Amino acid sequence: MPIRQLPDTLINQIAAGEVVERPASVVKELVENALDAGALRVDIDLEEGGIRLIRIRDDGGGIAPEELPLAVSRHATSKIASLDDLETVATLGFRGEALPSIASVSRFSLSSRRAHDEHGSTLQVDGGRVGEVTPRQHAQGTTVEVRELFYNVPARRKFLRAERTELSHIEEWLRSLALARPDVELRVSHNGRASRRYKGGGEIEPTLRLHETLGEEFASHALRVEHSGAGLRLHGWIAQPAYSRASADQQYVYVNGRSVRDRNIAHAVKMAYQDVMYHGRQPAYVLFLELDPARVDVNVHPAKHEVRFRESRMIHDFVYRTLQEALAGTRAGVAGGVEGEAPVQSMPFAQAAYGMPAPSTMPQHLQWTGSQQSPLGLRVADAPSAYAALYAGAPTRSAEPAPAMPMPANDAEGGIPPLGYAVAQLHGIYILAENAQGLIVVDMHAAHERIGYERLKTAHDGIGLTAQPLLVPMTLAVAEREADVAEREATTLTDLGFDVTRSGPQSLSVRSVPALLAHAEPGALLRDVLADLREHGQTRRVSAARDELLSTMACHGAVRANRRLTLPEMNALLRDMEITERSGQCNHGRPTWAHFGLAEIDKWFLRGR
Ligand SMILES: Nc1ncnc2c1ncn2[C@@H]1O[C@H](COP(=O)(O)OP(=O)(O)O)[C@@H](O)[C@H]1O
Ligand SMILES: [Mg+2]
Repeated sequence: MPIRQLPDTLINQIAAGEVVERPASVVKELVENALDAGALRVDIDLEEGGIRLIRIRDDGGGIAPEELPLAVSRHATSKIASLDDLETVATLGFRGEALPSIASVSRFSLSSRRAHDEHGSTLQVDGGRVGEVTPRQHAQGTTVEVRELFYNVPARRKFLRAERTELSHIEEWLRSLALARPDVELRVSHNGRASRRYKGGGEIEPTLRLHETLGEEFASHALRVEHSGAGLRLHGWIAQPAYSRASADQQYVYVNGRSVRDRNIAHAVKMAYQDVMYHGRQPAYVLFLELDPARVDVNVHPAKHEVRFRESRMIHDFVYRTLQEALAGTRAGVAGGVEGEAPVQSMPFAQAAYGMPAPSTMPQHLQWTGSQQSPLGLRVADAPSAYAALYAGAPTRSAEPAPAMPMPANDAEGGIPPLGYAVAQLHGIYILAENAQGLIVVDMHAAHERIGYERLKTAHDGIGLTAQPLLVPMTLAVAEREADVAEREATTLTDLGFDVTRSGPQSLSVRSVPALLAHAEPGALLRDVLADLREHGQTRRVSAARDELLSTMACHGAVRANRRLTLPEMNALLRDMEITERSGQCNHGRPTWAHFGLAEIDKWFLRGR
């Protein structure tokens, strides 16, 4: 075959292969155009999961009649004019590809009217054949109609799924859009019936949008995140670890308002949850990252699902640190939920000074003194002797909470601390306590284990990663690219306690390993570290391995079931929980406490009806 120039329609159909995968991608492109045009209300009418009809009407700025043919021609856009514009683009679209692609694989019409136009205009395109602009009644804004998607591309049509499936793809995408744009009203109808409405602007708070989209359950377990620094801002909500998911179905990430999938950010979030998430479970989050558009390349993917950061390590670090700090605040006694709550960063109860309740204000039987706290301190001496050496020099014997720790404020009414005062122990497993709102139930082993673990971590910070020389250097066979990483990242490895030199194209010589982990399998650990460094430019393997060890130690040191505790011991545990980071869940991510409000208990007995 001779070389020839392809006809425009075919070029558009090829482009459609990338941009228009299914009805949901059409909805995405068209609604994004509406938002770029400044719309505050968008109506989405669908028939048969969007396969038969997608009609999107907006109240945005509209298009000039003479520009309608341009809007449906390839590489024509009003959003950028130069390479500089591309580098700082703030609109969702910029490729000038969506309308011509969609119009080449459907029966398409574009109608529009600007505020000052006398009447509206419309343009039909049928499988890529562009008609004439004709006048048409139209309110201010734009309507795009897409009928019989892929009618002329049977191969694509075959890949469409059942109506229900296509509809759920559209709904999922609209949900992620609704989260990002609480100012815009979205109305959806399917087969002539109103099916969804997201309220717009004036009517709604961003947190209410969270209820609308992800439901009450997520909203009541959400922690608000808000943090800025180094020209980056991260805000949104993350779910408390207790609200974990079996799949990654509630993970929303936006970069400058654009919904994206980003492995780098997802990895940073996963690392932040590592210490508090039950094994194999997935966290839920809605996170918005904002930064100067010049620091992120959005022109990576035709459907713009991905972005590329100029400083991906820094972004990883920023996200990890912000969330890790937010999760450190998941202490027992801190309620989740978004209503009227201050952002996690401000640490709700760190603001007021903590005062132990004055003994005289407490019922006689609940009185206790500080000196009675000690019997329940983590009993290092109980830990199996194999661990004993690891404690050398670590000041873990003290049962006192670290003095730098922010102290929780008393409950406003009556000076009762958040977890209240113990009233009994149940079956040797649970502590029952009374606070201002009702009943608190604590799993004493789980809680004590976390407290011990956090203390060990504090005690080992800094010393855990010192290097321990090996008597005989170890030779490790690795892939060539891993050996390259080892050479390039020599200082990072030294900081982690590894002394590694390259001894051949595919071998490393290891002279020292992290002291605390010398008894584990340092070779396997080093391989994982190198894989992390290669893929993400950083690693938390060593501290994660250290944490795992400390967690096991804490578990052995924690109170066992069936040990009788005195009331002062129980109260001491409750007070420790209130000041220990992450004490809302045990080392394995299970919750340590539950709360039953008086109103809820009243309901059990049908009181007050
Ligand atoms: N709903 C709309 N309201 C106003 N203008 C629109 C709308 N949809 C499309 N346009 C115009 O048509 C142009 C082409 O749209 P599109 O093919 O999606 O490319 P892009 O969004 O990348 O610019 C846009 O740049 C815009 O000027
Ligand atoms: Mg567009």
